[in-house]
Amino acid sequence: MSEPEELDPTWSVHSSNGQVEPNRDLSAREASAEHDVERSLRPRELEEFVGQPRVREQLQLVLRGALNRGDQPDHVLFSGPPGLGKTSLAMIIAAELGAAIRVTSGPALERPGDLAAMLSNLTEGDVLFIDEIHRIARPAEEMLYLAMEDFRVDVVVGKGPGATSIPLEIAPFTLVGATTRSGALTGPLRDRFGFTAHMEFYSPSELELVLRRSSEILGVDLREDGAREIARRSRGTPRIANRLLRRVRDFAEVRADGAVTVEVARAALEVYDVDEYGLDRLDRAVLAALVKSFHGGPVGISTLAVAVGEESTTVEEVCEPYLVRAGMIARTPRGRVATAAAWQHVGVTPPPHAPGEQLPGLFDAE
Ligand SMILES: Nc1ncnc2c1ncn2[C@@H]1O[C@H](COP(=O)(O)OP(=O)(O)O)[C@@H](O)[C@H]1O
Ligand SMILES: [Mg+2]
Repeated sequence: MSEPEELDPTWSVHSSNGQVEPNRDLSAREASAEHDVERSLRPRELEEFVGQPRVREQLQLVLRGALNRGDQPDHVLFSGPPGLGKTSLAMIIAAELGAAIRVTSGPALERPGDLAAMLSNLTEGDVLFIDEIHRIARPAEEMLYLAMEDFRVDVVVGKGPGATSIPLEIAPFTLVGATTRSGALTGPLRDRFGFTAHMEFYSPSELELVLRRSSEILGVDLREDGAREIARRSRGTPRIANRLLRRVRDFAEVRADGAVTVEVARAALEVYDVDEYGLDRLDRAVLAALVKSFHGGPVGISTLAVAVGEESTTVEEVCEPYLVRAGMIARTPRGRVATAAAWQHVGVTPPPHAPGEQLPGLFDAE
């Protein structure tokens, strides 16, 4: 699925699967270098993982408990917007268990045979990571139930009346699922996870820690005020913080002396079209459409998506969660509504019926 050209010509935050899209202006070699950087910044162990204190504590108990008993840990599900550390945690689980990890994704498991092959190749204690697990096809999902519960699958051989089902033992494993839409998961699948964690947006001070760690790995001269500025404008998302850091570093090296100060950060973020509140073009397009085309709503998400020329899953899974968190969009039973802050952000005086606080103080929460 491609994104509309006008939204993000220089670098891209948005894509339908929530993954980092390499900059289209980069050569393949440069794009893969960006990908390698992202990988080098991934925390490797629970200790290195910044923020999400509750998830970290709970996960630690789940893993320790299982290790002490010599058991296989329960299956784990992570949900939350893109870039908050779900994949990183899946890798960390395997590392903490000293286990191998096999990685696949919901869309790749279209036929039950794909999943059966994957499962039958597992060795005891492996971690199987299924990203975007809500997009798994139904027959594969049903096969997964049995695998999760009994470490067994029934493989159907042949067609019609002669078809037989052959039970196949599989090695005990831990499934780690990640989803940007926990609501899209069926009840039976959700119920089979023994531990479910919802990832929250990070506070600016947590993002400062992420940035500090990344700047050390990348060798960037990141000053305290520069870190604060980037953290504040990273949409509560470590992946975005890391990406902004790399873009600001480019700016610092090309147009300044390499040090990332608050002035450099501001000037660079201006170039990359990240506004004072960390909103990017698509976020702003959504707010503008909501306020100007729909008079503040309520309006359904798919109508809104059409108005900005974007996939509705992208608007719903990538944009909306942060705009809700930032107090710009309110969800109502009749649709999405612009808050007073959203009207102001678009530069229009909010009508008296607009819900919520006005702009200043918006980002005090920390
Ligand atoms: N808690 C964290 N501490 C440090 N860096 C993080 C953290 N969470 C995410 N990151 C960074 O953000 C990037 C994206 O995280 P990832 O786990 O791929 O997110 P998700 O799978 O939820 O989209 C990682 O490569 C890592 O650099
Ligand atoms: Mg991921």
